Amino acid sequence: MLWLMRLSGFLSVAMVVIVLSPSLQSFPPAEAIRSSHFDSYLRFPGQIASAGTTRPRFPFRQASPLHNAGECEPVSVDSTACDPGLVHIAITLDEEYLRGSIAAVHSVLQHALCPENVFFHFLVSDTSLKSLVRTAFPRLRFKVYYFDPERVRGLISTSVRQALEQPLNYARNYLADMLKPCVRRVIYLDSDLVVVDDIAKLWGTDLRGRTVGAPEYCHANFTKYFTERFWSDPKLAGTFSARRPCYFNTGVMVLDLDRWRRSGYTRRIERWMEVQKRAAVDGAGGRIYELGSLPPFLLLFAGHVAPIEHRWNQHGLGGDNVRGSCRDLHPGPVSLLHWSGSGKPWVRLDSNQACPLDALWAPYDLYGPAP
Ligand SMILES: *[C@@H]1O[C@H](CO)[C@@H](O)[C@H](O)[C@H]1NC(C)=O
Repeated sequence: MLWLMRLSGFLSVAMVVIVLSPSLQSFPPAEAIRSSHFDSYLRFPGQIASAGTTRPRFPFRQASPLHNAGECEPVSVDSTACDPGLVHIAITLDEEYLRGSIAAVHSVLQHALCPENVFFHFLVSDTSLKSLVRTAFPRLRFKVYYFDPERVRGLISTSVRQALEQPLNYARNYLADMLKPCVRRVIYLDSDLVVVDDIAKLWGTDLRGRTVGAPEYCHANFTKYFTERFWSDPKLAGTFSARRPCYFNTGVMVLDLDRWRRSGYTRRIERWMEVQKRAAVDGAGGRIYELGSLPPFLLLFAGHVAPIEHRWNQHGLGGDNVRGSCRDLHPGPVSLLHWSGSGKPWVRLDSNQACPLDALWAPYDLYGPAP
């Protein structure tokens, strides 16, 4: 009965969202709340499975199997990740954001016309999470990559928000090294988002010869991502002199891995991290930026990214540190909802402090024991 109560609870929250938010009544993502979400809930009357038979650390339900539409390009069954028909997605898996990552994968599959053609690359620091993925998605094409925290430990300096300094946060810097050379493009996704559109559309983005594609925010105050020390040192600030840098969020990126490899960006990111690390300890004014893994991306790519439509990163839904602050969507269509910021929907839903838009995350959640 519990699932029925949860379902009706969700329906009423969804109704409230629709009634209260005029934007949701008209924009295409109203489609986002269309049938498939409700279906997905109805299809889980409490199937339960867990990561290990002896130690059910993380109980996740099994997602309902999804099949390619008739018009999908067939990809080889014994798929190595090299089949050119595959869509490649990289995402991290760790205990803290596990529920979010699984929901993100679920959302991608639910909205893809060709879910069997999506190949997931999971970056982990705990390889036992592999069996859990298999449990939730029995037929998923995926590979798990161990990211050794030691690889970046020496490069990370402490920052204001500890969460941003998790080594796994830096795994995205190493995708070009970790993924096989035959994987020439990848979509990187954060763990606190859901996709509500066909991922193949994002995959098909024309990068126009750029290495990174992402939505750009040219009205954001770019200055604040670097410190006074950075801007007052002509050698450092000069990094941006020949371009018009705009902020972009590294939580949703399309990466041309061929170009990345050819230009040696992994090493170039590491060099900026070394500059930051030295600056933080040398006593001559301190670090050159505050936030964790983002600034090296800005240093190398801001002003040089291929702009992607904003619908692919409706960010900020996590709100800020003020308790109970809920964000609304930015105007315009939505293909991806991103709970960046300090609040996470699964935490708020569990503590009965959900923001209205958290109801749009809930249908993708596979966590929980049998109701
Ligand atoms: C941008 O941010 C910097 C640093 O926080 C601040 O000094 C400056 O006034 C801001 N500029 C605008 C236009 O808001």
